[in-house]
Formats: sequence, structure tokens, C-alpha cells
Amino acid sequence: VAGEKEQLRRSWDANAEAWCSAVRDDLIESRRTVTNAAIIAAVLEEKPGRVLDIGCGEGWLARRLSAAGATVTGFDASAPLIEAANRAGGGSFLALTYDDVAANPRSLGGPFDTMVANFSLLDDRAGDLLRSLRTVLAAEGRLIVQTTHPLAVAGEAYVDGWRTETFAGFPGEWPEAMPWYFRTVSSWWRLLLEAGFTVISLREPMYESRPMPASLLLLAG
Ligand SMILES: C[S@@+](CC[C@H](N)C(=O)[O-])C[C@H]1O[C@@H](n2cnc3c(N)ncnc32)[C@H](O)[C@@H]1O
Repeated sequence: VAGEKEQLRRSWDANAEAWCSAVRDDLIESRRTVTNAAIIAAVLEEKPGRVLDIGCGEGWLARRLSAAGATVTGFDASAPLIEAANRAGGGSFLALTYDDVAANPRSLGGPFDTMVANFSLLDDRAGDLLRSLRTVLAAEGRLIVQTTHPLAVAGEAYVDGWRTETFAGFPGEWPEAMPWYFRTVSSWWRLLLEAGFTVISLREPMYESRPMPASLLLLAG
């Protein structure tokens, strides 16, 4: 299983270029039409203050939140994505893996009022990361997680486990497939509880064009 987590992390170096253009040229329909606005609204409703962007990628969310007045620190394992984030600005961006941060959460600075993970809790050990991040969360701080909607992506088997994303449905050239860990709705809930959080609310942002959710969005404290 360590192999899958490692391949997952590495795929974001290989796919960094394709990812940057998918995000920056707004090529992903679910993001363009639903989930970008959903995560921004969920964070801004919490009066974000000092924000930690967990697995920030090329930094689009940090840029949007800092434009709205937040002070954003982002971290991500992918050196090319962190480079792209730093070039574009809008926050302090650190090249750190989830294991680095779990071992030493204070390397991020903090405390943080709001922590946000937008489609970035992708491995089976996310609980270790979240438990350590609680130590740099302000009193009354919030964690907001957006993820693919388990029912929408389950396919044949609604059970936790490793899957593979080939990005075949995405525009551009994606050199490496990405292993990722599927969780049911109740497993997402339990992940947060076991990391010491209380789930405050759960949203299912919907497509306007069809009666299906584009994501699952959890707010925890
Ligand atoms: C789908 S992208 C989302 C990026 C960004 N949050 C966004 O909304 O555009 C997932 C991100 O998680 C990061 N990631 C995955 N595993 C990681 C790990 N073990 N440590 C740090 N970052 C990781 C990847 O590098 C990638 O940038």
C-alpha cells in the first residue's frame, strides 16, 4: 500500500503541466460549473482569516481566497506545482509531503483559522495528516474538505479501497495514472471523527444541468 501512496504523490510531478493547464484554462466542467464556487463560498462563509490550503496544487484557491482578504499558506508535495504557485503568488507556498507535515506540523507556522482540502485527501492515511493538523488549528478553527461525491464515482462497488484515475476523460497529455483511495460517505465522516474533528455540516453541491451532485463538501470543527 505504501507503493500506491508513493505513486499517487509522484504522479503529480509527472502530470503537473497537464494539471496546471486544466485548472488555469478552466478545462474541467465540474470545477468550472460547480465545485470552484462551492469551495470558495464554503470557506468565505467561515470568515477565513489565516488559511491553510492542504495539497494546494498550483495555488488557484489560495489566489482566490487571498484576493478576498485571507492570508494563505499552501503546501503540496509536487515541486513543479509549488513552483507554479509561487510564480503566480497570492500566498506562501511550501513543498512538503503529507508525511513531512504529519511528522512536524509546526513547520507550517500557524495557528490557522481555516484549513481547506480541495480534492486533495487522496490516500488511505489522510487521518494521520488531519490528526497532526489539529495541533495547529486555532480554537474554534474549521476544516473544510471537498471531495468527489462517493455515490457519483463509486461505479460497481460502494466500498473503501484503492482505485486508479487515468485522466482519460481530461483534456491534455497525462503521462502517469494516479492511484487514489475511495471512501464511502460514512467513511469520510469517520475519517474526520477519528482525527478528532466534529462534523458540523455536509453539503452536496449539485450540477445545474442534471440532477446529480458534483461533490461532497464537509465542514468540521
Ligand atoms: C486533485 S489535486 C488538487 C489541487 C488543489 N487543491 C486544487 O483544488 O486545484 C491533488 C493535490 O494533492 C497533492 N498531494 C497528493 N498526495 C500528496 C502528499 N502525500 N503530500 C502532499 N501533497 C499531496 C498533489 O500533489 C496535488 O497537487
